[in-house]
Amino acid sequence: MNKKTGSFPDLRLRRLRASETIRSMLANPMPGPEKFIWPVFVVEGENIKQPIDAMPGQFRYSVDKLVDAVLEVKNMGIKAVMLFGVPPVEHKSPDASYACCPDGIVQTAVRKLKGTFSSELMVFTDICVCEYTSHGHCGLLNEKGIVENDPSLELLAKMALSHVEAGADCVAPSAMMDGQVSAIRGALDSSGFTDTLLLSYSTKFASSFYGPFREAAASSPSAGDRKGYQADYQNPRAAIRESFFDEVEGADMLMVKPSLFYLDIISTIRSESLLPIAAYNVSGEYSMLIASAQNGWGDLRLMVRESTAAIDRAGADLIISYWANQYNQLLKD
Ligand code: PBG
Repeated sequence: MNKKTGSFPDLRLRRLRASETIRSMLANPMPGPEKFIWPVFVVEGENIKQPIDAMPGQFRYSVDKLVDAVLEVKNMGIKAVMLFGVPPVEHKSPDASYACCPDGIVQTAVRKLKGTFSSELMVFTDICVCEYTSHGHCGLLNEKGIVENDPSLELLAKMALSHVEAGADCVAPSAMMDGQVSAIRGALDSSGFTDTLLLSYSTKFASSFYGPFREAAASSPSAGDRKGYQADYQNPRAAIRESFFDEVEGADMLMVKPSLFYLDIISTIRSESLLPIAAYNVSGEYSMLIASAQNGWGDLRLMVRESTAAIDRAGADLIISYWANQYNQLLKD
């Protein structure tokens, strides 16, 4: 096909964008609310809706308040949430045992949400122990301070099983351990949970854009960083391979995280895989637009729409985004 069909002055491209009417006829629609998953932080206690300083518009909710917040997002057409537990410090330990507690914060929140909204709400849970380990790493540490892959798998599988027993529709492992997808799939299947979905955080980068989240979830590593397990943005082939690896291990859906700085990776994985792909529009990407707007350097609604359209255009089927709880103000036409 010859795409170069003429030239100026016979052809004038501005004709196709001369009015709002013709522009709107040709525009790709903004992704609808059904494409979004709202990530949300849960704490113990009652009647708590605690603002997160680094993420204006986001809160840590106790389970009772979470139900009210989820009802609000559901009324905007959002169909899914992703839960992150923020346990009190006294529940953190080197072996993260509280992460698997049947009455833990996430397990309790899942039970409550599924009891309230049943199949009208998809409840996703993050499977990673960094909020639960006293050292803040995503797996178990050995004496040398290195995260041990294989012993961590059993822990992650046990954590996932406890969420699914509480009623989670989809578990989303984010610890970046090799073999975590097959370990979790195996544990779920052998307990009869063959219908539970698994969304792998398959290509998750060691990123500097998780800062506000780590403040929200109190999950920064107390020593070292996550470069020994999360993907290196300077090695994109290895990062893409992580997704293929998880597809072969049995993930139902793949993920790229962060999203805005990795649109090329989303689009490559989109063209190489037939699985649904989620993009995680992470905390740093959220807070930087707010900071820019607060400084008067840009209009928040316009920046949110432009950046969200970019994630959609790159090929994401699902968008995990903190904007989801502001869908009507920011994203609705
Ligand atoms: C847990 C996890 C993190 C995020 C999601 N799951 C933090 C991390 O890897 O340090 C970050 C999400 C965000 O920044 O919005 N491992």
